[in-house]
Amino acid sequence: MHYHEYHELIENNLLWAEEKQQQDPEYFVNLAKGQKPPYLFIGCSDSRMPLNSFTKTEPGELFIHRNVANQVSLTDMNLLAVLEYAVEGLQIKHIVVCGHYCCGGVEAAYKNSATGVVENWVNPIRELYLKNRAEIDALPTITERTNKLSELNVVEQVKNICKTSVMHRANKAGTAPAVHGWVLDISKGRIIDLPLPIHDWRALGIIP
Ligand code: CO
Repeated sequence: MHYHEYHELIENNLLWAEEKQQQDPEYFVNLAKGQKPPYLFIGCSDSRMPLNSFTKTEPGELFIHRNVANQVSLTDMNLLAVLEYAVEGLQIKHIVVCGHYCCGGVEAAYKNSATGVVENWVNPIRELYLKNRAEIDALPTITERTNKLSELNVVEQVKNICKTSVMHRANKAGTAPAVHGWVLDISKGRIIDLPLPIHDWRALGIIP
């Protein structure tokens, strides 16, 4: 892995800005006019998940919230403020919760190895593992088990999105964005669009 020197970051920015300007003299003028992104992304903080890179999207397309192991907590003011503004202010059309394989937060929850604040933070994933232990432990390797837990974690966080007051209001108004759960397979660079148990959620009254 090649890491850029700190000063290179600033130099690269100048080159990038000049290149963009050359390709389209109005590029930054238009960006400065405001944002109307169609997508809210909730992703893991992991440095191997540059959301714009692997979706080939541009500034202005993704509204983004990231934290360790892409958690959606109904008591997280940070997440809730992002969600409310995205849904009611920006009127985004899609919410994507994006996790990934080889997630340190998921692995720590599986192994029960987290310490400090991270231990508290990943506790919901630990609980999710314990709830689905039979299915997960039936898989032959640790990689397959943690990958499965990464997938279950994404689906659980999409479910949590659906449980928020913001989404309930949007559903009543008929303006709710579509929800999606993705997992990025870092070893292949590929997104897996996970199936969501929409019928189960409907039966439970989580979605209308
Ligand atoms: Co992660």
